[in-house]
Amino acid sequence: MAKITTSRLLKMKEQGEKISTITAYDASFAKIFDQAGIHAILIGDSLGMVLQGENDTVPVTIEDMAYHTRCVSKGVEETLVISDMPFMSYATKEQAFVNATKLMQAGANIVKMEGGSWLIETISSLVERGIPVCGHLGLTPQSVHVLGGFKVQGREQDKALEMIAQAKELEQAGVQLLVLECIPAELGKAISEAVNIPTIGIGAGKDTDGQILVMHDALGISCSYMPKFSRNFLVDTGDIKKAIELYISEVSKGNFPGPEHIFK
Ligand code: KIV
Repeated sequence: MAKITTSRLLKMKEQGEKISTITAYDASFAKIFDQAGIHAILIGDSLGMVLQGENDTVPVTIEDMAYHTRCVSKGVEETLVISDMPFMSYATKEQAFVNATKLMQAGANIVKMEGGSWLIETISSLVERGIPVCGHLGLTPQSVHVLGGFKVQGREQDKALEMIAQAKELEQAGVQLLVLECIPAELGKAISEAVNIPTIGIGAGKDTDGQILVMHDALGISCSYMPKFSRNFLVDTGDIKKAIELYISEVSKGNFPGPEHIFK
């Protein structure tokens, strides 16, 4: 099969086919996930928590992200590689140019940034210069200290409407994919219907165009806490490749996320 591109993911949305995405941080897991048929791998700045043992993603640096992006890109053949721009690496347009370049040169196919309206100019400038961008709305973990914790976002009507408007703004600025994290399922559906680009949800209900999980949660290797929106696919399979194949198949059939994984 050919390399998966954002155009292929767009076509999947248009044809009502669900997109399966997972995080990875090294070549070995990336290779298994690629061979299992995952559509996209995110080198998430969640690596600060699951690899480095930090309490949040704030300490992660661009050097960390470039290193793990290089590792993952060596393991994949077909899967689209998304890489997270870490905390404060895109606070200005100029910083974004320098740091997004590092991730693209390390093997990313598209870079992800958390935020809404304030990012519009940065995004359109990156896209004009040949760097594709994935947006991220809802719970944006790099702002955890402003948000007052890892909390579901967009429950109030004004915040929900604002998020729909921001999703449209991001799309107009040139974003090609949009991650939606920890929002009510109804809002996940409304945003996915309001934009033409594919939405990838995590704790955003079953009606987003795709799903993403942190690999440690999907394989049940998070030491203590399993988020409500996640499921351990390894317990049912006992084999990492089969666990990811099951995840892809459950997403594609609309069985994951189930009612127990969603927020109201
Ligand atoms: O860093 C990460 O792993 C993420 C996902 C949770 C979407 O941003």
